[in-house]
Amino acid sequence: SQSAHTIRADTVIRNIGQLVTVAQSPLPGASGPLQVIDHALVSISQGRITWIGREGEEEPQFQSTTTEEDIAIIDAEGAVITPGFVDSHTHLVFAGDRAQEFHLRRAGTNYGELLARGQGILTTMNATRSADEETLLGLAQERLRSLSGYGTTTVEIKTGYGLNPESEEQCLHIINKLNATDTNTLPALKEVRVLPTFLGAHSVPPEYRERREAYIELVIEEMLPRFVGLARFCDVFCEREAFTLDESRRILTRAKELGYLLKLHADQLSPSGGSRLAAELGAVSADHLDYASDKDLDAMREAGVVATLLPGCSYTLRSPYPTARRFLDHGLHVALATDFNPGTSYCENMQMILGLAMSSMGMSLEEALTAATINGARALALQDEIGSIEVGKQCELALWSIQDYHEIGYHFGTNLVRTTLVKRQ
Ligand code: NIG
Ligand code: FE
Repeated sequence: SQSAHTIRADTVIRNIGQLVTVAQSPLPGASGPLQVIDHALVSISQGRITWIGREGEEEPQFQSTTTEEDIAIIDAEGAVITPGFVDSHTHLVFAGDRAQEFHLRRAGTNYGELLARGQGILTTMNATRSADEETLLGLAQERLRSLSGYGTTTVEIKTGYGLNPESEEQCLHIINKLNATDTNTLPALKEVRVLPTFLGAHSVPPEYRERREAYIELVIEEMLPRFVGLARFCDVFCEREAFTLDESRRILTRAKELGYLLKLHADQLSPSGGSRLAAELGAVSADHLDYASDKDLDAMREAGVVATLLPGCSYTLRSPYPTARRFLDHGLHVALATDFNPGTSYCENMQMILGLAMSSMGMSLEEALTAATINGARALALQDEIGSIEVGKQCELALWSIQDYHEIGYHFGTNLVRTTLVKRQ
């Protein structure tokens, strides 16, 4: 039995009412059942989980990782612990807001119309270009604190409001500064891991409006090679009002050659072909997918592309929610993310996203939790490191203020997460 073993630990979390974790099912589609351990204990050594199980008789002997220091004990006070949320799609670095446009849209103007008139993304581009680095960093830090307060422990952040080499580079620097796994991290942000994505192809900036080909070349010839090492992923907004299928293919093909992992804003406002392109190029995820066809979903499954659903957009744009069942029934790995941005989803709260997925997209609690944790990790190619509570994985947990995880999605509009529990080496 396990009790014969000695387990290394520098931290032990005791008195966990329910430890809820997701199975990393080898089969996509239907998520494995949740694993729930009552009266649980988790031990951690140097940022990695070393033991999970019931408190009491089955417990192993814990031996301090370091000889000088005692094992730190955290008392969960009988509450629920889950994996921290992995928010795999945000646009968190920007200045200004778009409240006016939100209310214009509410009164009938549509999102695509605003974009075509040079507003939307370009309104935020103007505000972002005019802000200095300190301001942008401060705003982003504030948002990260908020995200973390709702239980997110890993977040992907895209550029895409600079839209010229200098401003895009500045945003990438800011995103990298926010990363808790970097050594110079600000103490307040030590709980959040940040993954940077280059989204220079978010919109054609106004100075290139009459010569879009020159902007595509700027992205391919100058920005992509220059940002290698600053961004892990390259994303493109493949859409009628943004970049054509062919332009998207050219940009992403070059990005892939340079070693970026690929993501796509695909089939959000119209059937743009983006999800098929994601399959063709072996992207890690295709996101939105409101207009993806059954054949597109088949192609994504064959290529192992994660389907990331963003219900915050449907909520904000008042467009129909995609039916999650369709994606699950196609055998896809489905992830959920906030898409935090000032235009289509001004929301830092993954609990809200889970709630929407359950109330409006037909997902079960099990599916939604899986989508917001391990499948978010998969959408960042980090499924072997984070996203579930397993021995050997990194310790990124959410400690809830609830006694039973069935409260999630049911008790809504309030923050049910007490704190995140992140241990790094
Ligand atoms: O994911 N669709 C494109 N990009 C964002 C919106 C960005 C914006 O409106 O500022 C999205 O919805
Ligand atoms: Fe987005």
